[in-house]
Amino acid sequence: MKTLNVIGAGRVGKTLGRLFQAAGIFQVQGVLARSEASAQQAAQFIGAGQACQNLASLPPADVWLLALPDAHIAAVALELAVLDVSNRPALAFHCSGALGSDQLAPLAEHGWQVASAHPLLSFARPELALAQFAGTPCALEGDAPALHLLEWALTQIGGQCFAVAAQDKLLYHAAAVFATNFLPVLQDLAEQLWQHSGMPTVLIQHMRATLLHNAVNNIVALGPKAALTGPAARGDLALVAAQAQALDQWDTQAGAAYQALSQLAVKLSHTP
Ligand SMILES: NC(=O)c1ccc[n+]([C@@H]2O[C@H](COP(=O)([O-])OP(=O)(O)OC[C@H]3O[C@@H](n4cnc5c(N)ncnc54)[C@H](OP(=O)(O)O)[C@@H]3O)[C@@H](O)[C@H]2O)c1
Repeated sequence: MKTLNVIGAGRVGKTLGRLFQAAGIFQVQGVLARSEASAQQAAQFIGAGQACQNLASLPPADVWLLALPDAHIAAVALELAVLDVSNRPALAFHCSGALGSDQLAPLAEHGWQVASAHPLLSFARPELALAQFAGTPCALEGDAPALHLLEWALTQIGGQCFAVAAQDKLLYHAAAVFATNFLPVLQDLAEQLWQHSGMPTVLIQHMRATLLHNAVNNIVALGPKAALTGPAARGDLALVAAQAQALDQWDTQAGAAYQALSQLAVKLSHTP
């Protein structure tokens, strides 16, 4: 079995580490986080691997997963590239949706195979993500031999791999932000407004469940355009303007978001 080091043992590192280990795809060797306590907790969650204190103390491995916050990937890749460890170069990949494998360029310059593999899943909590991973689309980009191995490995744990071009990743990832990350933001805004209007908390929680379920069911069954309702979709532009003004007074950013989304709703309602 090929071996795996996990650098960055947060939500994604822990989940993928455990899935790969449990399925017998990779044997996890070293686990590194910012704090040793976090690395130890991650190794426990994964069920294998040694918590390490720094890059230099990581054991040799065939595959290196850099599951770090996006802003740290390039710096850690650079640090790793200049370390002199016996079995390097190996294969390194990161999981950013927006960034390409060029973030790992210093490693590629030292003969590593590099790639990015983005699982299109909201890893809110590793315990939940383990159960949710099967069927997750995984966008792959990078060196061909690395992609070959990663496609096999991710498919074995239930991922559905497809290719994405490095230059398309920013927009590809923006789609994921629209599709999932903005939902809690919109929900929070709605709940603040209901609170502001005096709706009892218990009813707000009920509304959250009911409206979300109905919206999801309608979108899945009918598609976004047919599921669209509301003043913009009805063409009631006077109401849209009045509501935008009221929101602007309540919170300028909420007012701007309402206006921008209403314009997109009008555009969608006119789409053939
Ligand atoms: N979360 C998602 O839903 C999701 C989905 C798909 C892809 N991704 C991508 O997956 C990657 C990881 O995201 P995440 O959500 O798993 O992040 P996360 O939960 O914040 O975990 C980041 C991990 O990196 C560690 N870390 C930070 N800086 C480090 C450094 N310089 N050296 C070593 N370890 C360091 C942290 O250590 P401590 O634990 O000690 O703080 C933590 O364990 C990102 O590229 C992200 O874009 C995330």
